[in-house]
This record gives sequence, structure tokens and C-alpha cells, in this order.
Amino acid sequence: MNATKVAVLAGGLSMEREVSLRSGRRVADALGDRGHDVARLDLDDQLVASLARGQYEIAYLTLHGKAGEDGAVQSLLELLGQPYTGPDAVSSLLAWDKAVAKGLFQRAEVATPQWMTLSSDAVRDMGAAAALDHVLERLGSPVVVKPSQGGAALGVGLVSEPAQLAPALMAAFSFHDVVLLERFVHGTEVAVSIVAGEPLPPVEAVPRTGRYDFSARYTHGATEYFAPARLDSQVLDACVEVSAKAWDLLGCRDVSRADLMVDGDGQPWLLEFDTCPGMTETSLLPTAATAAGMTFPDLCEQVLQSAMSRIHAPLRH
Ligand SMILES: Nc1ncnc2c1ncn2[C@@H]1O[C@H](COP(=O)(O)OP(=O)(O)O)[C@@H](O)[C@H]1O
Ligand SMILES: [Mg+2]
Repeated sequence: MNATKVAVLAGGLSMEREVSLRSGRRVADALGDRGHDVARLDLDDQLVASLARGQYEIAYLTLHGKAGEDGAVQSLLELLGQPYTGPDAVSSLLAWDKAVAKGLFQRAEVATPQWMTLSSDAVRDMGAAAALDHVLERLGSPVVVKPSQGGAALGVGLVSEPAQLAPALMAAFSFHDVVLLERFVHGTEVAVSIVAGEPLPPVEAVPRTGRYDFSARYTHGATEYFAPARLDSQVLDACVEVSAKAWDLLGCRDVSRADLMVDGDGQPWLLEFDTCPGMTETSLLPTAATAAGMTFPDLCEQVLQSAMSRIHAPLRH
């Protein structure tokens, strides 16, 4: 395998900066061990100059949170003609906004929990606070309240009483001005990672506290993972099938991860798609890769080669 000149992009100003730096360090070390020529770049005002100076063949994105996943950095890299790993700017943006992604899933008959959205404009300027009673009536109880754009379970709340709704909304509004109110699915938390179009074994996450929140995700030992998930093989197949369908709907490439809840009847409900999945020691994608018999450097190499194949593909006229 030829050595490739790679810039690993990590950090940025999102709430998930530290997680991204951890992902970036691991990926850079793994690709370096594989003999690639690797530099690490932060997402700051020097990025364009650093990319121009380095003349990298490819940028490997390990950015989590807004700038890395909402298409902003992808658009910039496209403008620069800099090849990069992961879905393009449009796919990133579609997946980043959970309400937009859920709309696409629903139109394609991919089961996603029933939901509604509420914008801070509607609350501030249109008297929506008086309509909050309809939320639990329409969606049932409990309801998950989460920012439509966001990640790492930040700003996510669970509401079972009408009085809890307003504070949960305010907490979610502090992350994004459109909030998703979604029917709660009681069941098993499952993630399906897909690398170069090939689904890896579904991973089940069982947080010790019962809530798969920020600290359950990134604290060593706070969550137990089972790969493959402890579900019937038909249910595992159904999880893979909906995830692959959503990958196509969003137009993903190289690597992405679907987050699902499987209810007591074995029905998978797609929550969201993560277009730049975590690569830390406790992250779901590396756990899935291990279950598939892939080492961490193998995983990084596969993502890299998937993106590199676009550069080497013959031009279409
Ligand atoms: N509708 C739901 N039913 C049950 N649990 C949910 C639901 N929505 C979110 N959760 C829980 O909250 C976590 C974060 O939600 P998710 O939609 O994946 O957003 P993100 O990971 O981007 O913060 C999930 O991993 C799951 O544990
Ligand atoms: Mg998620």
C-alpha cells in the first residue's frame, strides 16, 4: 500500500472538541503506524493556510459537533478542491439536522419515532407556549426533547409530565433554536456502523446509569457494549437493512453510523445518522470494527482507501 500524505482534522470549537481531539489522535497514530505521512490540524483560522502549505492528498475528518458535521468544513474543502473522508457537504447537512433526516426517512417508509418540532420563534413570537399541552396528547408519554441540530446527547431530556416540558424545551433551545419532540421508544439502544458501504455488526450499548448520556459515552467503563447486539438474527438483519437504506437516502460515503432503538417487539426505530462517528476507545464504530475482526488501524485504512478511491477514479465526462 502506498504511503499517503494525510491531514487529520480534529478539534474545532464545538462542545465535542475534546472527544474530537481524542478521535483525531488515535486515527493519526494508527495511520502513522501504517506508514502514512500524517499531520494533525485543528479547525481554526489557520486551516486554509495549513492545508495549502501541507499539500495533503487527503483530509481525514474526525470532527464531531457543529462545524465538522453540518457541512461547513466539507463545503470549505470542496471549495479548496481538497479531497476528504466521509459524506459530502449536502449529505452532512441533511443528516446533521435530525428533523430533516427524519422527514427523509419517513418519506421512504423507514420507521422513525413519531415527532414534531418547535422553534424558539414560535415560542417567543407566536404564543406557542400555550400549545404545549398538545405535545404529550399527540405523542404520548414520555417524550424525548432534543435539539434538532446537536450531538453527544447534549440538551436531550425526557419528559413525562406537562410541567416538565417548558424547562426541557429551554434546556434544548440553549443548543439549537429548533427542538425535536419525539416519542420515547423503550427498548435496546443499537448502533449500526457502515464502512465503505459495508455494514458492520450492530452494537448494543447498555449504560450503567440507564441513560446513554455524554458521560456514559465517553467515560471508560460507564457503558457496557455487546457486539453483535444480543438480539435475534432477524432483528439484527432488520437493523442493518434500515441503516443501509438510510445510508442511501442521505447519500453517505466512506463511513457513517446509524443510531436506533429496538422496541420490545423487535421493531427497529431509526433515531439519527452520524456522519463523522467517534473514534475513541469507547466509541461505537471501533467496537463494531473489532467485532468484525478488524483492528483499529484496519478500520482507519479502510475509510482512507474508500475516500482515496474517489481521487483515483477516472473522470466522468
Ligand atoms: N425517541 C427516543 N426514544 C428513546 N431514547 C431516545 C430517543 N431519542 C433519543 N434517545 C436517547 O438519547 C440519546 C441521544 O439521542 P440521539 O437522537 O441519538 O442524538 P445525539 O446522539 O445526536 O445526541 C440516544 O442515544 C438514546 O439513548
Ligand atoms: Mg446519537
